[in-house]
Amino acid sequence: MIVLAALLLVVVLTCVPYLGTIAFAQAPAAADASPIFGVTIPQGYKQWELIAPAEEAAPLDELRAVLGNQTAIDAYQAGKLPFPDGTILVKRAWKRKQSPEFASATVPGAATTVQVMVKDSKKYAATGGWGFGRFINGKPVDEAQHRTCWGCHEARAKSRDYVFTRLAP
Ligand code: HEC
Repeated sequence: MIVLAALLLVVVLTCVPYLGTIAFAQAPAAADASPIFGVTIPQGYKQWELIAPAEEAAPLDELRAVLGNQTAIDAYQAGKLPFPDGTILVKRAWKRKQSPEFASATVPGAATTVQVMVKDSKKYAATGGWGFGRFINGKPVDEAQHRTCWGCHEARAKSRDYVFTRLAP
């Protein structure tokens, strides 16, 4: 019995440091979280389903793709508004570039920003239930930029739970 207990103790003690590592790896450092909202870039978002592409005219000259997690996709498909808690929307953006092989084709150039909206109606009650994050090279931009998000989304997309993008047909 004592031998068994000792063995168990050894196993547990061996695992503890690894558990710490796993927990640490899954919780992004505070420096990677957006100011005001504490939003981080969600893991695996590049594999998420496409909601719609978009194009932005000069001076930004960008191609965009709005992606959503499963909660977002389910809500879109059911035509459900407001979006439920747990919804995450990610907008990827690239500079527009002429295809080197075909003059009339426009393709993604350098990546510019990754923008994130997270729905948590309690935590973000003051901003329509949405937390915002804008990232360049994986790092959040400054607080001043994060103060602009809610104003524009609130003013222009109120009737659609502050989300502009519609599911592409
Ligand atoms: C001046 C208006 C404006 C401001 C400010 C703004 N957005 Fe948006 N946002 C838009 C528009 C318009 C779209 C629709 C897609 C597009 O045109 O790129 C959009 C789309 C998005 C989307 C995809 C979901 C949706 O609503 O369509 C996310 C995520 C997003 N914005 C995050 C942010 C974040 C984070 C900030 C602040 C750092 C921000 N936005 C500031 C206008 C704005």
